[in-house]
Amino acid sequence: MAANHAGPFLFVNRVLPLLKNAAKAKDADVRIVNLGSIAHISMIPHHFDFQFNTAVALTNPVPSYPWQWRYLGKFMFDFDMIRYAVSKAAVVLFTRELQRRLDEQGLSILTVVVHPGAVLTEGLLSSNNALIKTIARVSFLMPEQGAATPLFAATADEVRKDFSKYKAKFLVPVGKIETPNPIVEDDRQVKGLWENTTAEINKQLAAEGLPSLDGW
Ligand SMILES: NC(=O)c1ccc[n+]([C@@H]2O[C@H](COP(=O)([O-])OP(=O)(O)OC[C@H]3O[C@@H](n4cnc5c(N)ncnc54)[C@H](OP(=O)(O)O)[C@@H]3O)[C@@H](O)[C@H]2O)c1
Repeated sequence: MAANHAGPFLFVNRVLPLLKNAAKAKDADVRIVNLGSIAHISMIPHHFDFQFNTAVALTNPVPSYPWQWRYLGKFMFDFDMIRYAVSKAAVVLFTRELQRRLDEQGLSILTVVVHPGAVLTEGLLSSNNALIKTIARVSFLMPEQGAATPLFAATADEVRKDFSKYKAKFLVPVGKIETPNPIVEDDRQVKGLWENTTAEINKQLAAEGLPSLDGW
C-alpha cells in the first residue's frame, strides 16, 4: 500500500500545481499514468471485504482471507499476492477519484491506469518463487515490450484525440480498455480510501516535519 498506492498519491499531489499550470497552455496534453495490474481483478477473491473505508485501509487492508487463498499464495508466489492485488485496486480507485476531481475543476488533464502485461523485470524476479521465475523466463514480455501500454497511455495520438474515451480507464496491452474490479463503483470505498490515504500520509509527513498534502 505504501509503495503502490500512497507513493503515487503523494507524488501526484506534489506535482499537481505544475500539471495544472501546464494544462493552461495552448494545445496542452497533460496525462497522469498510474501503474496498476490485472491482479486487482484476477487475484482478489469474490466478495472480498474491502477495508478502504476503515481506519486500517492502509495499514492492514487484508485482515483475513480464505485459507485456500493463503495456501495458493504460498505455493505460487513468495509474496502476499492478495495484498499486492488490493494495493493495485487502490490505484484504480485513486485514478477514478482523481479524474472526477480534476473534471470538477474543468481541468484538461487525463488520468489513466495501466496493466503493462506479464513482464520479466527485476521486480518480478525478486519477488516470486522458482516455478514462476521459470515460467516468466520462457513466456513473459521483455521490459521493452512491457513499456508499450504505459507509453501508449502517455503518448499515443489517439488518446489525445479522444480524451473522454480514455478518461480514468483501465488499459491492458496494448492500449485496450478493460473493465476494472467492480469495487471502483462503490462510492463509500472510493471516498473512504481517499480520506484515509490523506489522513495517513499527512500523519507520516507531520512525523517527518514535512508540509502536508495540498488541496487537489
Ligand atoms: N512485471 C509485471 O509483470 C507487472 C505486472 C503488472 C503490473 N506491474 C507493475 O508495474 C510497475 C513496475 O514494476 P516492474 O515489474 O517494472 O518492476 P521493476 O522493473 O522492478 O520496477 C519497480 C520499480 O519500483 C521501485 N520500487 C520498488 N519498491 C519501492 C519502494 N518501496 N519505494 C519506492 N520505489 C520502489 C524500484 O526502484 P529501484 O530500482 O530503485 O529499486 C523500481 O524502479 C509496478 O507498479 C508493478 O506492480 C508489473
